[in-house]
Amino acid sequence: MAEKFDSTPFLLLGFVLIFIAGVFIGLNMNKTDIKPFILYSSSNIILQEELESNQQQSLHSFSFAYNTTHLWSMRLADENYYRIIRRLPCRTVNYVDQSINETMNHCSQTTINEFSVKETVNAQRWFYEHQHPVDCSNKKFAIIHNHAWSGIGSTIHQVVWAFGEALAQDRIAVYETPGNWLYGDCKFGTLDCFFLPITNCSIPSKIDGNQTIRIPANKGHWEKARYPDVFHNRTLTWYRSQLLFYLMRYNAQTLAHVQHLIAQSFDPPSVDLHHPYIALYVRRSDKVTNREMSQAYPLSQYFNLFDNDTHQTNITTIYINSEDNNVFNEFEQVNQNKTGYYKLLRVKTRKDIVFGSLMGMPMNERGKIILEFLTDLFIEANADLHAGTLTSNWCRLVDEMRLVLGKFSPYYTPENGHFLGLRRRK
Ligand SMILES: *[C@@H]1O[C@H](CO)[C@@H](O)[C@H](O)[C@H]1NC(C)=O
Ligand SMILES: *[C@@H]1O[C@H](CO)[C@@H](O)[C@H](O)[C@H]1NC(C)=O
Ligand SMILES: *[C@@H]1O[C@H](CO)[C@@H](O)[C@H](O)[C@H]1NC(C)=O
Ligand SMILES: *[C@@H]1O[C@H](CO)[C@@H](O)[C@H](O)[C@H]1NC(C)=O
Ligand SMILES: *[C@@H]1O[C@H](CO)[C@@H](O)[C@H](O)[C@H]1NC(C)=O
Ligand SMILES: *[C@@H]1O[C@H](CO)[C@@H](O)[C@H](O)[C@H]1NC(C)=O
Ligand SMILES: *[C@@H]1O[C@H](CO)[C@@H](O)[C@H](O)[C@H]1NC(C)=O
Ligand SMILES: *[C@@H]1O[C@H](CO)[C@@H](O)[C@H](O)[C@H]1NC(C)=O
Repeated sequence: MAEKFDSTPFLLLGFVLIFIAGVFIGLNMNKTDIKPFILYSSSNIILQEELESNQQQSLHSFSFAYNTTHLWSMRLADENYYRIIRRLPCRTVNYVDQSINETMNHCSQTTINEFSVKETVNAQRWFYEHQHPVDCSNKKFAIIHNHAWSGIGSTIHQVVWAFGEALAQDRIAVYETPGNWLYGDCKFGTLDCFFLPITNCSIPSKIDGNQTIRIPANKGHWEKARYPDVFHNRTLTWYRSQLLFYLMRYNAQTLAHVQHLIAQSFDPPSVDLHHPYIALYVRRSDKVTNREMSQAYPLSQYFNLFDNDTHQTNITTIYINSEDNNVFNEFEQVNQNKTGYYKLLRVKTRKDIVFGSLMGMPMNERGKIILEFLTDLFIEANADLHAGTLTSNWCRLVDEMRLVLGKFSPYYTPENGHFLGLRRRK
């Protein structure tokens, strides 16, 4: 799956329960007007009981919340997640690149506060309201155009930068249509083909370089990070993840497709019924031959990173994906050595696809592959623990998603660092 990358060029518990349950309760009230934000003040003990009493209903409430709010298409960290990470040893990781060096430790109050579900809800609401004003006239706009010729993760990260730049200039970001996103399998030719619309304002017809400007989405890599004032003191790790999450809220068709693919591969047929599990993406092939990764890491090396922790937390299910099909044979050997401790989850998707072959496909075929990628992303983001290599745009995308969902335990990587990927790559 070379095409995913730069191949060519605690308050917590209460809040989460109240938040999720707020939606849940909303379900029983007015079906057309759910606003999770206004439901915080209910008693969380009652809600907890209510939540636990009926899993089917809670799945339904998720689907309902998904349909009626702009916030998310993936589940947020919940008490089951926090119960797991409280058993993990404290470990400091530094997200580094160029002049950035940001420290995270899931035992530190600073990390807990910044990566809380509450912060996510507030940030996502801010983005949504900024992009969906009551009145679009007299607003300033930035038209995002000219997507990069590179892997899907890379192209999305560059759109994220352009979106951030628009917000820093207090502009509403709109996509030029038809756009030239290599993966845009619909008339828009933009991320709007798979995700909820970036804005509900229409594209301004006049570009005067003042009220409306254009921002190319094929060059952005955060050389100098600029934030809107409200986010001025946030880490780049947090802020760019939030931007990415906003742009990648699965639309109804995408979510339905993803859930259908999962149902075909998983028994029982939903990610919700496989917790707790760890997700591992093994990136190799072109990423190694292009020397962006220093080496292809053997599977056993990844397992050595998290084996103690999975045992400590009783996690026996592992979801593995890779563009390299050999990984699954390696898994059989590694797992034999561990007397079959792990149960493997995988999806039936096409392997060995590289950027060139993907580009040779007609757009609708490419679209199907993208839905397979988004299925992988959905399964990985929903996992409890995460492993991979952050020189890969795809792995970073997964990492950012899970951080936004409030899952801030250390990302396991055999590389000698947690890279933000700020450098321009070819
Ligand atoms: C949510 O939307 C999907 C697709 O539009 C639909 O199939 C599903 O029944 C809806 N769920 C609820 C709870 O409204
Ligand atoms: C990042 O900062 C930590 C101290 O907070 C330091 O130990 C580490 O070496 C720094 N990493 C880099 C790459 O500068
Ligand atoms: C955009 O959405 C906002 C918030 O839902 C709404 O108030 C506004 O009327 C919408 N604007 C357009 C042009 O549809
Ligand atoms: C830019 O637009 C603002 C209003 O959006 C206006 O007040 C200002 O005069 C404009 N500047 C130029 C150079 O046109
Ligand atoms: C960031 O600034 C806001 C006020 O602008 C303050 O309430 C908040 O505590 C600050 N957060 C951090 C992490 O410094
Ligand atoms: C796992 O536990 C063993 C034995 O306690 C220890 O030697 C090893 O360093 C641990 N590995 C990691 C990655 O923490
Ligand atoms: C882990 O699983 C074993 C056997 O299933 C059980 O006895 C033990 O209590 C579990 N430990 C935790 C921390 O859940
Ligand atoms: C199996 O375990 C042994 C000892 O822990 C180790 O030396 C060997 O490399 C492992 N083999 C595989 C395939 O992981």
